[in-house]
Amino acid sequence: MLDLCCSYGVNAALLRCDVSLDELFAHYASPALADLSPAELCRVDEAYYAERRRLDAVRVSGLDTAGNAVAYGCRVNLLEGGWAEDLEAGDPSRQLTDHLDGVDLVTTTGGVGYITERTFDRVLGARRGGSTPWVAVFALRMFSYDRISETLAQHGLVTEQLTGVTFPQRRFASESEREATLREVSGRGLDPAGREDTGRYHADFYLSRPAADAAQRPLVGLLDGVVPQ
Ligand SMILES: C[S@@+](CC[C@H](N)C(=O)[O-])C[C@H]1O[C@@H](n2cnc3c(N)ncnc32)[C@H](O)[C@@H]1O
Repeated sequence: MLDLCCSYGVNAALLRCDVSLDELFAHYASPALADLSPAELCRVDEAYYAERRRLDAVRVSGLDTAGNAVAYGCRVNLLEGGWAEDLEAGDPSRQLTDHLDGVDLVTTTGGVGYITERTFDRVLGARRGGSTPWVAVFALRMFSYDRISETLAQHGLVTEQLTGVTFPQRRFASESEREATLREVSGRGLDPAGREDTGRYHADFYLSRPAADAAQRPLVGLLDGVVPQ
């Protein structure tokens, strides 16, 4: 799996380790970690994640323009490979291109808005062989996904949006952030009632797959029992 906008590797932590988001909040809010140097924190976290690693842990690599965050994710063994590259601005490096051929799943949470169809086009366009990966994205509702899904279609992927459920994200940091988001969401013809107007961003989920895969197993069946209704 390649996690776009991976930051410190939090998605890798949740997928690869037996740890919940609440446990991660408690871990990083712990006073015991407050005075550690970056190198000391890396040593503590390497052990923390190793103790919790699932036996069947998926292999995750990450891309983010924040080089220190990616380097941390690699040092604590959450990310198997990490790239600090900006695919909005240019093509992937030779090393990243080599890696892309082996990727089965491309993801991002909190990335759309920072990255656009340009990044997805470069990730899928640079591949030299192998089957086309699936693309699973949580995108804030204030952003249209149309241009990304159109680009993914040019690479042979059919995009489905999971309907009937949205995913709460972080709380708004200020009144102006809240107002701007409510305006953007309403401007897209969506109703913020019970969602953004409760004080948090909300994301939609999109899955893009080769047409044959999508026909074989509809999105709703695939996620049956996984998604809260
Ligand atoms: C809101 S954070 C999301 C982090 C993480 N995925 C999460 O869900 O908590 C957005 C991330 O996108 C990264 N980012 C911004 N522009 C980027 C770009 N052009 N390419 C890759 N990453 C980018 C930032 O460095 C930051 O780590």
